Amino acid sequence: MKEIDWSKLGFHYTEPDYIVRSAYHNGVWEEPYATNDKYLHLHVSATCLQYGQEAFEGLKAFRGIDGKIRIFRWRENAKRMARSAEGLYMQPVPEELFGKAIRLALEKNMDYIPPYGTGATLYFRPLLIGTTPRLAVGPGRDFEFIVIPSPIGPYYPGKFHCTTFVVNRHVDRAAPHGTGTFKVGGNYAASFRASEPAHAQGMDCLFLDAKYHRYIDECTAANFIGIKGNEYLTPRSSAILPSITNDSLMTLAKDQGMKVTRRHIRLEELADMSEAAACGTACVISPIDKVFDPDNNKIYQLSDEPGPVLTRLYHALRDIQFGRAEDKHHWCDLIP
Ligand SMILES: Cc1ncc(COP(=O)(O)O)c(C=O)c1O
Repeated sequence: MKEIDWSKLGFHYTEPDYIVRSAYHNGVWEEPYATNDKYLHLHVSATCLQYGQEAFEGLKAFRGIDGKIRIFRWRENAKRMARSAEGLYMQPVPEELFGKAIRLALEKNMDYIPPYGTGATLYFRPLLIGTTPRLAVGPGRDFEFIVIPSPIGPYYPGKFHCTTFVVNRHVDRAAPHGTGTFKVGGNYAASFRASEPAHAQGMDCLFLDAKYHRYIDECTAANFIGIKGNEYLTPRSSAILPSITNDSLMTLAKDQGMKVTRRHIRLEELADMSEAAACGTACVISPIDKVFDPDNNKIYQLSDEPGPVLTRLYHALRDIQFGRAEDKHHWCDLIP
């Protein structure tokens, strides 16, 4: 194992020994291979550079309490990446190839899988880019699939805590029928104008639907959850990413006897919620203490400390990921 202070890693890139690559040319994917060369020899007119043909994913492997490694729901990431690829007219990566590449990236970087008890994990960033040189506007025919692993530290190195969010009606993350439902780089570049100023003030962004600016869409890199009594609420929107964490939490909430509802949620409904949070692979759950609406000079005050329902769901999912609870839904692929 590498000499790394796992608890101090944070969500930053730590260079692994190997990445995994597979190119697509003439209708055929090449067998994925590991390489320690982290640079691409890419044509300056490649469609990923010229026209944004780029999609990515994010998933984690956990070292469990029993010493075994668990890869969490990678097939869902493979399916989502295939949808993102189709959304940008790219060649989808077959699920089998996706799984093979993740396994190879894991096997070649075993020294970077953080020990149990540190809260750190091995994160995988699968990336798909268009590589055909092209000047005329249009999609390419050649692609490259790359898996970049990196150990990342615990999202909450100290205590599980809340974050403040701010609403921005002057920057839209994604149009109702645009690319918001795909995990593509352009969505993130488009949100920086809102998220960077928010981060500079120690807050995160809550995006509203781009058509009416009335309903909650999602956060910069996470879905939104609200709790009203025994009800788990999450937005229905054609512009948000289908979060695998949110899907898992909805299943666990149902297991725990909660009512789960996916519907349009007006911003003002925050006033009736006992708890709210952002959710995603990085944080699992990031509870929200308050939401600022600067245009209306309004503050929605939630609880200062993470509430009981979200805390329970957070631990329920983490316990499955770290092998401390039964994996009833078969979400983890075990590597002995
Ligand atoms: C825009 C956006 N929404 C939601 C999520 C959460 O998705 P997941 O739970 O699959 O990580 C992410 C992170 O991947 C994201 O970038």
